[in-house]
Amino acid sequence: MEIKIGFIGCGGIGNAHMSILSQIPDVKLVGFCDADESKAKLASEKYGGKIYNDYKKMLNEIEIDACYICLPPFAHQGQEELCIEKNIPIFVEKPIHLNKNKAKKIIEKIKEKNLINAVGYQDRYQNIIAYIKPFFSENNLGFFTGWWVGGMPGVYWWRRKEMSGGQVVEQTTHIFDMSRYLIGEPVELFSVKRTGLMKEFEGYNVEDASAVSVYFENDVFGVIFSGCFLNTSGKVGLDFYFKDKVIEYIERQKVKINYGNKIEEIYETEENLLLKEDSAFIEAIKTKNQSLIKSSYEDAYKTLVFTLSANEAMEKNKIVKIKY
Ligand SMILES: NC(=O)c1ccc[n+]([C@@H]2O[C@H](COP(=O)([O-])OP(=O)(O)OC[C@H]3O[C@@H](n4cnc5c(N)ncnc54)[C@H](O)[C@@H]3O)[C@@H](O)[C@H]2O)c1
Repeated sequence: MEIKIGFIGCGGIGNAHMSILSQIPDVKLVGFCDADESKAKLASEKYGGKIYNDYKKMLNEIEIDACYICLPPFAHQGQEELCIEKNIPIFVEKPIHLNKNKAKKIIEKIKEKNLINAVGYQDRYQNIIAYIKPFFSENNLGFFTGWWVGGMPGVYWWRRKEMSGGQVVEQTTHIFDMSRYLIGEPVELFSVKRTGLMKEFEGYNVEDASAVSVYFENDVFGVIFSGCFLNTSGKVGLDFYFKDKVIEYIERQKVKINYGNKIEEIYETEENLLLKEDSAFIEAIKTKNQSLIKSSYEDAYKTLVFTLSANEAMEKNKIVKIKY
């Protein structure tokens, strides 16, 4: 069964998915759309397929079995809705949107059509995460800390809050999502932020650093730090303090479990997480089995609301209840 795929957004992560998908048997890349047509052309030269700069034209002209939507956060403006209208399964890169009401409507439309859908939180597919996940049902986690602390990504839209949503929404979202995946649902939070360190970038208006303290429904609490001001290497991951062990998770690398009398260190064995994630999406389409997907649009919506709530607390300097 051949799966024909179209792409909306042919930049950094779009190209990463194209390269993976081109290695999966039965997958054919048939259309590339980018506002910058030269990027669609480059993809077409590599993989074949038609070139577009207007997603409506692409979706009206060619038949596809799935669409990858790999747009910057601000650019989600009807692409998902039209795919769903045309019964096309969607893979959407995180963060799924900047507008939670529009994202909520997209969930309803997906449900009406019962369409296969996935979001690019690939960290959920790690073997080290499958290994530690059962510990979280033992109900003896006290609290956790999380970080995405490093330098500023180079894409032009990242440094504009109205385009990217800021670091919490665009980048540390992987850490917020992992906290939900392992611990449960967050209930309320408070955030603080720091500005004034990044003076050298024209037009920069995102916070340089933030800390979000959050309570979960099971009384666990945690603090998630973000920082994009470092000129040196930083830290990305989470630490979990259980009654009988401490788990340090370094994103996409390893977990170290300290039991007091012994230390277990386990390295991630999955060489290519995108391959695992994309293969799951393709298999879900072929078998019409949404349960193969570890991050659905509806689930990713909750992570979006979590991070937008953190932004709200940062702006208003008040405790925010997380309302889906
Ligand atoms: N899962 C991950 O690990 C991961 C990694 C990187 C990026 N991402 C996410 O993927 C998304 C894209 O990031 P990127 O690094 O590929 O950005 P990018 O800027 O490299 O690529 C985005 C592309 O979209 C195109 N574009 C913009 N507006 C458009 C529109 N209206 N119609 C069609 N094309 C349009 C741009 O011309 C560009 O080629 C972001 O939301 C980012 O957070 C996820």
